[in-house]
Amino acid sequence: MVAALRGSSIRMQRRDLNRLALAWALSAWAGVVPAQTATGVRQGRGPVWQADPFALGVASGQPRPDSVVLWTRLVFSAADVAHQAQAQTVLCEVFADEALRQPLRQWQVQTDARRGHSVHMVVQGLQPGRSYWYRFVCGQAVSPVGRTRTSPAPDARVQQLRIAQASCQHFEQGYYVAHREMAQRELDFVLFLGDYIYESSNAKYRIRSHTGGVPKTLDEYRQRHAQYKGDADLRACHAAHPWVMTWDDHEVVNDYANDLDRDYSDPAVFLRRRAAAYQAYFEHMPVRIGPDPAVPYQMRIHDRMAWGQLADVWTLDCRQYRDHQACPDPNRGGARVVVGCDALQDARRSMLGGAQEAWLMQGLADSPRHWKVIAQATQMSSSGIATPLGRSSFNDAWDGYPMARERLLSGIADMRPQNALVLGGDVHMNVAAQLRVRPNDEQSPIVASEIVTTSISSRGMSESVLGPIRDNNPDIRHARADERGYTLLDIRPGGMTATFRTTPHPAQADSVLRDQARFEVLAGRAGVQAA
Ligand SMILES: [Fe+2]
Repeated sequence: MVAALRGSSIRMQRRDLNRLALAWALSAWAGVVPAQTATGVRQGRGPVWQADPFALGVASGQPRPDSVVLWTRLVFSAADVAHQAQAQTVLCEVFADEALRQPLRQWQVQTDARRGHSVHMVVQGLQPGRSYWYRFVCGQAVSPVGRTRTSPAPDARVQQLRIAQASCQHFEQGYYVAHREMAQRELDFVLFLGDYIYESSNAKYRIRSHTGGVPKTLDEYRQRHAQYKGDADLRACHAAHPWVMTWDDHEVVNDYANDLDRDYSDPAVFLRRRAAAYQAYFEHMPVRIGPDPAVPYQMRIHDRMAWGQLADVWTLDCRQYRDHQACPDPNRGGARVVVGCDALQDARRSMLGGAQEAWLMQGLADSPRHWKVIAQATQMSSSGIATPLGRSSFNDAWDGYPMARERLLSGIADMRPQNALVLGGDVHMNVAAQLRVRPNDEQSPIVASEIVTTSISSRGMSESVLGPIRDNNPDIRHARADERGYTLLDIRPGGMTATFRTTPHPAQADSVLRDQARFEVLAGRAGVQAA
């Protein structure tokens, strides 16, 4: 296996492969002192730890046919705090088998406090379409073992893509039983569509508590991310599968749009907060690219990934580049339901920003792959209702950017075959919907299919609010906000099946998920139908 590395803080060391004692290789953190690692490096140098520095676990993500990102972050207990000021050397080991009998390569990675002692190892030279196992070592500490998977070769005739689609995991509002089940599933990757952390609290729905107040600084966002990663079910799901990710608003603050928050803070002040939030996000996620060093409030998260000839998967950023919400309340900005808002018809307004929108449209037009999977943060189908003053629009989702939605769906309408699947989160409900250039207009053909996944734990809207939305939007074939969970997607050349896996709200620690509903999309025929 040939390996190369990216990143100035990473240096590669080639070592002779060495079959070592499996007993040590599989040992969890328990003060074990290995004489040498599985791939032959003598250990013992580096810090002597009083507590597990790998308590946040391991993760992998952004798979490619020949590479994947491996992640961990060292944490320092009070007893180990003296190590925190120092740069640390972390060993990353990759294996070909689950039993760790076949070590492939190892690398030494330097990390320090400037990056929160996080490690992002871009392992290259891997084989397409197969699993690998990995772990990290620092001094005498050994991390849990993670499993990852590369994507298939770009020209491979892949017969199946299995995704777990998830979003919105308010720590205080429920347990991560969805992650517990996902960790046990056979999956190609977890697709997480935003609201990974929540900055805010609601005492009314609190089952367990955030530590600290609303984060605004880098250290405060780090603390919030670290608390979420303290959840064993979430760690298990990261260790079990590669994740493909985008973000929504709560990774920074509720309802932010580009450089504006709900309080109409000075944009220069808000962008410093956004930079802190983006940096902390990067430090805790298996993503390849962090904040732009020259412009730290900018960080590219949108991405495109091929899954053989079967699918192209776009992950979109619906927050960083969007126009501000239309017709906001002058006293309290951000999201609201608007009626008679002329600004919605302004064709210049964009959800994705001009550059990302052009990149997506070009990519869709050029894509030679069977399915076009457009993964983004929120709901694309309309959820407005008729009022005496006109139809309402929720100005934070795609209803607040109707001209941008029309541009995107018009572009999709011109594609053949018309196998566009839009995936979303954010709204804390399961939705299966038809997407037309003109929403809910039977004269406007269905051009794409939408699956929105409910929240992992965040509370959903009441039936009294959802009922009228359902009644006013015939394009919505399924909408339920009363249950929590995730969505299993099974994408094959002939069709796609989405299974909503749920438990009633709130997700209790011992909840077991069941099928709420199942929808399918047949290849060459846009639109969802009950399966
Ligand atoms: Fe959310």
